[in-house]
Amino acid sequence: MTERVVREEIDKLAELLHVPAERVQHLAHLGYDNLLALRQRVTTSLADKYDEEHRRLRLYRRSVPLRVAVPLAAKILPPRLIGRAAASALDDSEMERALRVLSGMDPGLVADAAPYIDPRVIARFAHLAPPALVHGLMMELLRRNDFSTADLFADYLDESALGAGRAVNEPLITNVSDTARWVAAYRAIESARPDALFVDPLAARLAGERGRAIAEGPVAPRGGRSGWPQVVRTKLIDDLIVDSLAHGCDRVVNLAAGLDTRPYRMDLPAELLWHEADLPALLAEKDELLADEKPCCGLVRTPVDVTDTVALTAFLDAATEGAHRTLVITEGLLPYLTPTQVSALCGALRRPEIRWWLLDLYSPMMRQAVNLSMGRHLGSARWHFAPADGVRFFTGWTAVDTQSLFEAAARWNRSPKPLRLHAHLPGLGTPTKPGQLSLWSGAVRLQQDRFEG
Ligand SMILES: C[S@@+](CC[C@H](N)C(=O)[O-])C[C@H]1O[C@@H](n2cnc3c(N)ncnc32)[C@H](O)[C@@H]1O
Repeated sequence: MTERVVREEIDKLAELLHVPAERVQHLAHLGYDNLLALRQRVTTSLADKYDEEHRRLRLYRRSVPLRVAVPLAAKILPPRLIGRAAASALDDSEMERALRVLSGMDPGLVADAAPYIDPRVIARFAHLAPPALVHGLMMELLRRNDFSTADLFADYLDESALGAGRAVNEPLITNVSDTARWVAAYRAIESARPDALFVDPLAARLAGERGRAIAEGPVAPRGGRSGWPQVVRTKLIDDLIVDSLAHGCDRVVNLAAGLDTRPYRMDLPAELLWHEADLPALLAEKDELLADEKPCCGLVRTPVDVTDTVALTAFLDAATEGAHRTLVITEGLLPYLTPTQVSALCGALRRPEIRWWLLDLYSPMMRQAVNLSMGRHLGSARWHFAPADGVRFFTGWTAVDTQSLFEAAARWNRSPKPLRLHAHLPGLGTPTKPGQLSLWSGAVRLQQDRFEG
């Protein structure tokens, strides 16, 4: 796999230099990260070196209407030249018109040229290009798994301007609690598999028609319709709960528990006390749907808005009373909060009764990919929190376990084919080591620093 991404980098470098790949093959030993950095330096210096030629191209362009020049150039010039010429176009007085013409073109052609655009003009391009053009380009780059190029653009994108926040007429997800039904539907589908990673017999009932409609509808892009990230996350968190109990966990507090049924389906000590919190309407519905079921441990449900720090503190006072090694879970919650709300949560959980915190974490690029591909269906449930510095965001906590969702999905044969490669990309980060290629995600167990050693 690693060889394959290095080979792809070698091919891009050869295309950029306009030489056969064999001529640069000897550079393969540099590895992916260095080859990527080298390609960007070469792109920049070629843009400088051919500045005069680009100036002449601009003059030529003025004598030919853009609606003729741009499609013609796309037909007769190789992508590396179009990418290079884009730098000069972005300096041009006719740039806005050129971008409009590009918008009418096949996003595939724009994506072909994108790796060869001078990295210094990408910010300007992302800022000035019509949203549909940038959206089409990003989706195409993600579809082709060209993450290294998508990464170059991702930092500068304003997802809401790209239409990611503009809702469709009747969004399937009307509020954030619908995401709980959605996850339950995926758990029901997983439970029915002969090789299920877990069995959740209540998931189908809890998901209901609405959950099924969301899971089967157009919300998730094709690569995500199996719900593999949620399924893999569930299994990773199951395992971390079992491990925490083996290491003396004496209380579980599941914040934003949604329609999770672990107190019913897992083999838990009968004397364990498990607290669930979520928004009031969802918990009332859950209480009703599970009224006839008996959990295997003590279970208390409390309506709490976790962004209300006063209410959260009062809840934690009660939920952790008498405990010494509480495990807090916030599975599938943090992306929906703002960084300020997560910081406040982070502070509220730093109390002596709480030892561990299980969470799932996604890179800024993942947030972009989710909002770009699903944003218009997500209503108020668009993603906000995705810290570039990974677990370092959580002051006062240290990551003691980190598992990549991509790697786990590949290991358990749950990832869609194109993403299997992604699990093995060199430079691919994790929440503990956010890498150069920033499409990372993971399930993390944090330990409060006061418990270190
Ligand atoms: C994706 S679901 C995850 C549910 C559950 N943890 C699971 O993995 O099945 C997100 C959950 O966060 C809850 N949630 C969102 N914002 C919340 C808030 N401010 N306070 C409490 N719960 C919240 C929603 O109601 C929903 O149940």
